[in-house]
Amino acid sequence: MLLGAYFALKGTLMRIIRTLIVCLALIGIIAAQSPATAAWTNDSQVESKIDALLKQMTLEEKVGQLVTYSAGAPTGPGTGRTDYKEMIAKGQLGSLFNITGADQTNAMQRIAMEKSRLHIPLLFGLDIIHGYRTEFPVPLGMSATWDTALVERAAHVAAKEASAEGVRWTYSPMVDIARDARWGRIIEGAGEDPYLGSALAAAYVRGYQGAKLSDPDSIAACAKHFVGYGAAEGGRDYNTTEIPTRLLRQVYLPPFHAALEAGAATFMSAFNSLNEVPASANPVTLSQILKKEWNFQGFVTSDWNSIGELIPQGIADDHAMAAQKAILAGVDMDMEGNAYGPHLVDLVKSGKVPESVIDESVRRVLRVKFALGLFDHPYVQAASSDGIAPEDADLARKAAEESFVLLKNEGSVLPLKANGKTVALIGPMAADAGQMLGSWGAKSQAKDVVTLRAEMTKRLEAAQGHVVYAKGTDFLTTSDKGFADAVAAAQKSDIVVLALGEDAPLMTGEAASRAHLGLPGNQEQLLEAVAAVGKPVVLLVFSGRPLILNWAAQHVLAIMEVWYPGIQAGPALANVLLGDSAPSGRLTTSFPRAVGQEPLYYNHFSTGRPADGIDLSHPPTNSREKYVSRYIDEQNSPLYPFGYGLTYSTIAYSPTTVSVTSISARALNAGTAKLTVSADVHNTGTRAADEVVQLYIRQTGTSVVRPVRELKGFRRVTLLPGQSQKVEFNLGADELRFWNIDMKDVVEPAQLTVWIAPDSTQGTSAKVTIGQ
Ligand code: NOJ
Repeated sequence: MLLGAYFALKGTLMRIIRTLIVCLALIGIIAAQSPATAAWTNDSQVESKIDALLKQMTLEEKVGQLVTYSAGAPTGPGTGRTDYKEMIAKGQLGSLFNITGADQTNAMQRIAMEKSRLHIPLLFGLDIIHGYRTEFPVPLGMSATWDTALVERAAHVAAKEASAEGVRWTYSPMVDIARDARWGRIIEGAGEDPYLGSALAAAYVRGYQGAKLSDPDSIAACAKHFVGYGAAEGGRDYNTTEIPTRLLRQVYLPPFHAALEAGAATFMSAFNSLNEVPASANPVTLSQILKKEWNFQGFVTSDWNSIGELIPQGIADDHAMAAQKAILAGVDMDMEGNAYGPHLVDLVKSGKVPESVIDESVRRVLRVKFALGLFDHPYVQAASSDGIAPEDADLARKAAEESFVLLKNEGSVLPLKANGKTVALIGPMAADAGQMLGSWGAKSQAKDVVTLRAEMTKRLEAAQGHVVYAKGTDFLTTSDKGFADAVAAAQKSDIVVLALGEDAPLMTGEAASRAHLGLPGNQEQLLEAVAAVGKPVVLLVFSGRPLILNWAAQHVLAIMEVWYPGIQAGPALANVLLGDSAPSGRLTTSFPRAVGQEPLYYNHFSTGRPADGIDLSHPPTNSREKYVSRYIDEQNSPLYPFGYGLTYSTIAYSPTTVSVTSISARALNAGTAKLTVSADVHNTGTRAADEVVQLYIRQTGTSVVRPVRELKGFRRVTLLPGQSQKVEFNLGADELRFWNIDMKDVVEPAQLTVWIAPDSTQGTSAKVTIGQ
């Protein structure tokens, strides 16, 4: 009897143990399958080490972990502070930015490791926005590749180069949705679409943070600017934003959430006021959404003095009040602000900020430092090479080639038939190495750049051809002194290539909003003067935003938007111009016809009086044409729409087909149903092509209005001449749900229209009923 009970108990115990083992194994498998980068958040040993450190830290030392200063070329208005070494030695400074070079970072690190009481390593940050030394196309150009794998690889190259110099933290990716071309910082992001923006945000984070954050060549990403910065009123930088909650959830937050899900270790709070609350003191976005709802475990840094700027914004009377509001809202670190350093200690002592709040922020900062392995490996080896690895240059060239968007190619003037021909290369971009690096160049060097002029000259000479170069004009001059040479060059040539655009450091990026969106200076006049010669003209547009290209669209044969292509500008451009590779980029922002159309984006809502089917190319002539949502003096549509781009071949799409014509919202919400949408794409031309196949949806009959089209899938496919490929997309709850009238993120019964299309305006549709 006793023996029986013993065996029964033993059997039960064994079963429990076996179940436990299976569970543990499963947890192991799940952990191994989930992104390794996210694993850094759940390390109980690290948490115990942080507990131990927090017990030893004085309040001053804790606050030291919550401040960062620029120790190099300023990227904002400076504070005049330079006593960093003393601060580090006293444990009053835990992070520095804008400092590079192994010698420099090691020297500062040595002070922290050897002189400070608790030997907590420093974290070095930098704006590594589109490369460190190997400069890739600017982010808007990278987004035009629609190539997540390529973006991930490029980000990893940047991480490898930065980490070799001790820089383990980048202020990238900027995942702000930007619907207004006037805003200079549109260049730093992925354009106007939240779906594409989310995919690219995750790709950047994976690339920077690598397989493990502690790998020596991984760096911490920083998703910025949280949140709504891209919706600056009037497109004017730093300006106020008003974004209703549903729009925030639907459009502006998703790329941040995607970055977080990919494991982003840090976030940056924005400059703007969002719905009357400055983003750097907003408890709803920072604490409630980011930290509680999304369970973000890393830390939030402010933007440059964005805590101090709470004073001019009007919610703080002094730096002490600004510090109190920011830390209580959830900003863990003060960048260049002089708010936390001088005031947090007193705020705790006077009871205005609980010490537990400080402890929580310090924990977050230390968690990231532990995750990066800085406590074990605070120093880096002295630099062994000072150059660009050939494979990285190859990747930069490939990225540039994929980023070019062919907007027009009448009579197939491109690729150039240039053998034995004379090509006039005209414009201020043709031979300017520095411009190719765009804005936020990190450690890039103009000497690494191969210009268009250098490469075309080499390539044409090898093909019994010839390049005649004339600068023509400068970016912002009104002088037409150079026009005569440019016209003469065109007269002497068989073909003209014009390289025009915006002066990158002056006219793109931060604090570079524009009220006019034409080619700056007198470049448009130069274009017209050269075109008047009558030779075939190819216009290359170097810009950090959509420009208005109406005249060119009507008068030149070919236009290609090439952004700022990076160090391999010349080879990439020559390859595409001469046909060694074909353009395959697609627009990620709508190109306007007039500034008055801004903000302009494809995924807008329909009004009750849409102008569908009405010819908007002339003023209204009757009431049917008049009483619709339109301008009387301009069309509604962009000149070139989101998703658009040509290649050297022709691609045909079969009708879009769906796997079912009705599906249940309940099953979709439960994750037990999905819909497959497919189409065949066929290369009907004579050249290989990369096609970016895009899936769009629209839902009607819903509790709130939904966009006229929304991107919900994309795939870059390579098609040889004559080749066809079936492209299939799955639609499930992730793609079909939205924040409904009750502010619930669910799939609702709806009429669903789907398109598989080459851009946001084309494609044949199929219908599906989403029932109860
Ligand atoms: C201000 C910019 O808004 C931000 O994007 C950047 O990371 C910081 N300056 C640091 O340079």
